[in-house]
Amino acid sequence: MAAEKNLKWWQKTIVYQIYPKSFSDTTGDGVGDLNGITAHLDYLKKLGVGAIWLTPIYPSPGVDNGYDISDYVEIDPAYGTMADFENLIAEADKRKIKIVMDLVYNHSSDKHAWFLESKSGRKNPKADWYIWRDAKNDGSPPTNWRSIFGGSAWEWCEERGQFYLHTFAKEQPDLNWENPAVRQALYDAANFWLDKGVGGFRIDAITYIKKPAIFSDGAPDGKDGLTNIHFMTANTKGILDFLHEFKEKVFAGRDIFTVGEANGVAADELNQWVGKNGVFDMLFEFSHVNLSLKDGEIWCRPTEWKLTELKKVLSDSQAATKNNGWYPIFFENHDHPRCVNHFFAKDAEPDKAAKAMAAILLTLRGTPFIYEGQELGCTNVAWDSIEQYDDISSHGQYDFALEEGFSAAEAMEFVHFFSRDNARTPMQWNGKKNAGFSTGKTWLPVNDNYKIINVEAEEKNSKSVLAWYRKLAKFRSEREELTAGDYELLLPDDENIFAFSRGVDDKKIITVVNFSTKKISLPEDFCGRKILLDTESKNREEKFLQPLEVRILE
Ligand code: GLC
Repeated sequence: MAAEKNLKWWQKTIVYQIYPKSFSDTTGDGVGDLNGITAHLDYLKKLGVGAIWLTPIYPSPGVDNGYDISDYVEIDPAYGTMADFENLIAEADKRKIKIVMDLVYNHSSDKHAWFLESKSGRKNPKADWYIWRDAKNDGSPPTNWRSIFGGSAWEWCEERGQFYLHTFAKEQPDLNWENPAVRQALYDAANFWLDKGVGGFRIDAITYIKKPAIFSDGAPDGKDGLTNIHFMTANTKGILDFLHEFKEKVFAGRDIFTVGEANGVAADELNQWVGKNGVFDMLFEFSHVNLSLKDGEIWCRPTEWKLTELKKVLSDSQAATKNNGWYPIFFENHDHPRCVNHFFAKDAEPDKAAKAMAAILLTLRGTPFIYEGQELGCTNVAWDSIEQYDDISSHGQYDFALEEGFSAAEAMEFVHFFSRDNARTPMQWNGKKNAGFSTGKTWLPVNDNYKIINVEAEEKNSKSVLAWYRKLAKFRSEREELTAGDYELLLPDDENIFAFSRGVDDKKIITVVNFSTKKISLPEDFCGRKILLDTESKNREEKFLQPLEVRILE
């Protein structure tokens, strides 16, 4: 394992993302908690997980399920206590698993003490901790920017007689990073968690922290006359100065990993963002998940894409991170649909589609991120009315679609596809009440398919999606080609097969996935090779691939 020696611990492991509210409830209040996570550490260990990314567990009014934080250095009582958190770290540590926290530093909650002080008048010590501007002469908001969840990005505050900026919901006011005291307070909070022993950070919405020097209107891109704030503020020049300071004051010299959420960073800028000269170890970029969004729209109507496009963007990301930083491989998270519904034809058998995606996730170059339930092959929900949805962005998306002239049925179709609630339904542990997630009334309904798709059932079935994930994870940990090896895309123009190789010296592993729901012939070059792992040992035909079949070859 010579090549592997140069890799850090987090480049050789698998990260598992937990949405704590939906993972496991030990108190019966219908909301998951920290002790529920601790109780399932052995389950994660068996999956080969070396780090757990927790979406925010800090006190929060919950307008955006924890991404609106009212105290950066406490635990939300809904999730437990600081002692529960310390116990989680200690128990995880015994199993060589690190806990990774989510830093939400573009904005706080409007109930954070900092904001309450800031909005109380124009002269208090925190008066410029947020982004305040006067109204235009006619009393309208300072600019025509639309927030990411819909509606104006400006909210009027009577007490100050000014507007404040919010990139996301109005309950998520943007912090003013130009103020050194704000930056220091945020660094102190991150260091607080490092001192508790956390193994890294996922840094939320980080491309929005720097605002342009002059705020001006953009060309309207919707019937509301507004323009998407993303295109006005993401990745503003000068942002890297802040981030270098952040690195120096928090991350530098620590044996942790950092992964920034970086919508808006182009591949040719990557070397400034990650790696030796950059600021983070990895960046989540969204070129592959955004293929299904119509140009420039965020969380709106789905559009068609081709397999060759998916292969191209993934291969571009592999190439861009070959020498700069490292790639965090993901196909699901708490903001995206289940991958089975997102990437495959409607007639795809869900468990086969889940296995096909797993093979790609666990054999590409980078650190794989598995989102809770993905390892079971969980699928989207499709509730009848918008009122049934909790996700704030689904409501914004629905209203926006109506405003744009789509019918209510069409708007619901978009919600069914993109709603973040698809990935937020409770974890499916068994076929009993509430899928074994909670004894109480669950905060979000359990997906109806829990009697079939659940941990207990899949542990008993050697052909389950979970069994396949475990097999792949073990295989990955044993083969340095899959951790350290170079990536090469094969058959770039094929619209059915996703194939690539991973190699170290003259050792090579080839992943071949039939992405289509048809039986297709397998190009000559892949026939007759030794099969290391596959999904169709029973129906296998030497020269053909069954629908969604995976073969991992030598
Ligand atoms: C990120 C999070 C998302 C959240 C938003 C605002 O995109 O992943 O869940 O709503 O930031 O914090």
